[in-house]
Amino acid sequence: MSTTTTGCLDVRGLDVTLRSGEGRDLHLVRDVTFSVGSGERFGLIGESGCGKTTTLMSLMGLLGADATVGGEVRIDGTEILGSGERDVRRRRWSEIAVVFQGAMNSLNPVVTIGRQIAEAARRGAGSGSGVRERVHRVLELVGLRAEVARRYPHELSGGMRQRVAIAMAVVCEPRVLLADEPTTALDVIVQAQVLTALENACAETGAALVLVSHDMGVIGEVCDRAAVMYGGEIVETGRIETLLHEPAHPYTRLLVDASPRLSDPGRELASIPGAPPRPGVDHAGCGFAPRCPDRFEPCGSHGPALLPVATALQQARCHLHHPPAEEAP
Ligand SMILES: Nc1ncnc2c1ncn2[C@@H]1O[C@H](COP(=O)(O)OP(=O)(O)OP(=O)(O)O)[C@@H](O)[C@H]1O
Ligand SMILES: [Mg+2]
Repeated sequence: MSTTTTGCLDVRGLDVTLRSGEGRDLHLVRDVTFSVGSGERFGLIGESGCGKTTTLMSLMGLLGADATVGGEVRIDGTEILGSGERDVRRRRWSEIAVVFQGAMNSLNPVVTIGRQIAEAARRGAGSGSGVRERVHRVLELVGLRAEVARRYPHELSGGMRQRVAIAMAVVCEPRVLLADEPTTALDVIVQAQVLTALENACAETGAALVLVSHDMGVIGEVCDRAAVMYGGEIVETGRIETLLHEPAHPYTRLLVDASPRLSDPGRELASIPGAPPRPGVDHAGCGFAPRCPDRFEPCGSHGPALLPVATALQQARCHLHHPPAEEAP
């Protein structure tokens, strides 16, 4: 099915429910909507457990049979959700690819880097000839020398292995690249090298990038726009400069204060008191209210909607900007 679209990747009302071991339904992702243009870099940010990886895995069709995924996901206007296992497999890697969370530690220790990238290249449609050249080209794209192809993972540093993981994800030239916390556990200088590799890979292939991080500094370094997730929902979305300098949601503001900046690594960081909600634990009102320094009367009882703030480009799910209408007596 083809329809008009605004982006290369269009996600509308994405909803993920998981049947837990005890037979309970856990609502992990709710009503997630965003759009990323070709060559654009979009960030998904939030604390641990807010549903970032679940969102990416649902886009890849990699959640198991226990998960129910609703909503719409389009790549270049073509709906991919519910298109059948064969179709999902065909698109995976050649149209939409992922650098998995912890990818640099998941390379096969007994297979050379070159063979691992070549195997990744063969996952895409129309591959076959020129695989060796493609391996060398993609290594160069992520800033590694061709001779790295002959090495084993243990001979490389963490940053080099992460760049190999990026090379494996882009070797089939996907339209959409998802990168799940690609710089976590790396020091600041190596982080910058990995982010440059990611940017170069996307610039060269024209892929739409969705970069996931819990670190606003990393997202701010790379992305044009971002969505802030909390408890499985988007609570604010907008341009990076707006999120960094004029955040509308108190959670975004606290996240900015809690994130190191690549440009100012020595800055003192604040922490966000309390813990995010656990899936399956129902709450009335706004999910962030128990931790929110700005909460007021309606926050504990009414769930806010995601609505435009100053301009249509910035949206926030917060009663501070759209207080609920007074109920008639
Ligand atoms: N298979 C599963 N069974 C039960 N709960 C799950 C499962 N997968 C994820 N969850 C829960 O869903 C929530 C979202 O998890 P997810 O991995 O998407 O978070 P995340 O934002 O990627 O976190 P992190 O920053 O730690 O990677 C978490 O509370 C997690 O415990
Ligand atoms: Mg994750």
